[in-house]
Amino acid sequence: MADESAEGIQNGILGHLPPWPRKELNNSVIAMEQAYRQRKGLPLLTDADIECLKAGQPMPWEAGGAVSSAPAPAAPAPTTPPAAAVAPAAPVSALAAPGVGGNGNISEEVAKWVAQGKKWSKSAIAAEQARRNRKSLAALTEAEITALLGEPAAPAPAAAPAPVAGAVPVARPAAPVVTASAAASVARAGESTKYVGTPAVGTSKAAAAGGVAAVGPEDNEVNRARRRMVWASVGAFLTAWLVAFFRFFLPRTLFEPATSFKIGYPEEYGLGVDTKWQQKYRIWVDRTPDRMFVIYARCTHLGCTPDWKPSENKFKCPCHGSGYDSEGINFEGPAPRPMDRAHVEKAPDGQILVDVSKLYQWPKGQPSQFNDDGSFLSV
Ligand code: FES
Repeated sequence: MADESAEGIQNGILGHLPPWPRKELNNSVIAMEQAYRQRKGLPLLTDADIECLKAGQPMPWEAGGAVSSAPAPAAPAPTTPPAAAVAPAAPVSALAAPGVGGNGNISEEVAKWVAQGKKWSKSAIAAEQARRNRKSLAALTEAEITALLGEPAAPAPAAAPAPVAGAVPVARPAAPVVTASAAASVARAGESTKYVGTPAVGTSKAAAAGGVAAVGPEDNEVNRARRRMVWASVGAFLTAWLVAFFRFFLPRTLFEPATSFKIGYPEEYGLGVDTKWQQKYRIWVDRTPDRMFVIYARCTHLGCTPDWKPSENKFKCPCHGSGYDSEGINFEGPAPRPMDRAHVEKAPDGQILVDVSKLYQWPKGQPSQFNDDGSFLSV
């Protein structure tokens, strides 16, 4: 493929055009080249360039173009050309570049798509082929596929171009010599990249060696990044799933506050109700002239925590209005019985040891447990 910086390019951009010498180019190839230049922001071919390309002549700015700086449409018939020097003009169809025209011209529909400048993917072309197959339309030709893929047209074979009748013969660069082996490898390459019509998902190496092309996303940086992202997502999902799976086998521990605790020495409490442990242990310490006991701060109606009202010398439940006296005995509201009392005893160090897992009750109509051992401390 030609390179814009190739030697011999003086004032113009060759783009994807084959370098001189080349054969005549048809309108489809020229349209493709214009579309390519439009996409890339390159200078478009001028009318003079197009005329030269159609006539198989060097463009005005190309090496050798000096002899045909003006557009040279149909050349007049030669007066008396030497039979050996001038070859008869070949028909255009016979001179279509194999890599471009291929096995047919590009349809107007495809030319329009190409002119829009959008590059088709191989999967999109496969879908288009399938659609045409369903609609019983003519399949895309190789030339059309090449144009849609946005691939540059293959350069014309190295055979010497047929001189245009009447044109003055000029010295032109020697055409590259194509050896038989090189031609064979080119032919094999053409076969291996031949479009097979059906997406060959998971094409095997053997199929690839047999010339069946894999139709799939191109191996470029964008697609590699997409693949990495997909695999990272799959890996993250599997990792999370495995962690959850193994977490299932681990024991679950429920941390609850201790039910047995010390609340200090009896001398630290005066007569009456002490609420300093209400928030931490949900208890009140109650001291009378002859005993100490601990009331478990839970209403016996539905379990709310009553409030201590020192001005009224009673506990009042905010939920349904149950009232208890300073020793937790119910006297108003729906509470069915006095509030429970927690087990108390003296620890070896002399502190009061409370255990709320063991409660003493006074159920309605039944004997009271408030005088049982452990329900109070004598002071
Ligand atoms: S929960 Fe205390 S009165 Fe209803």
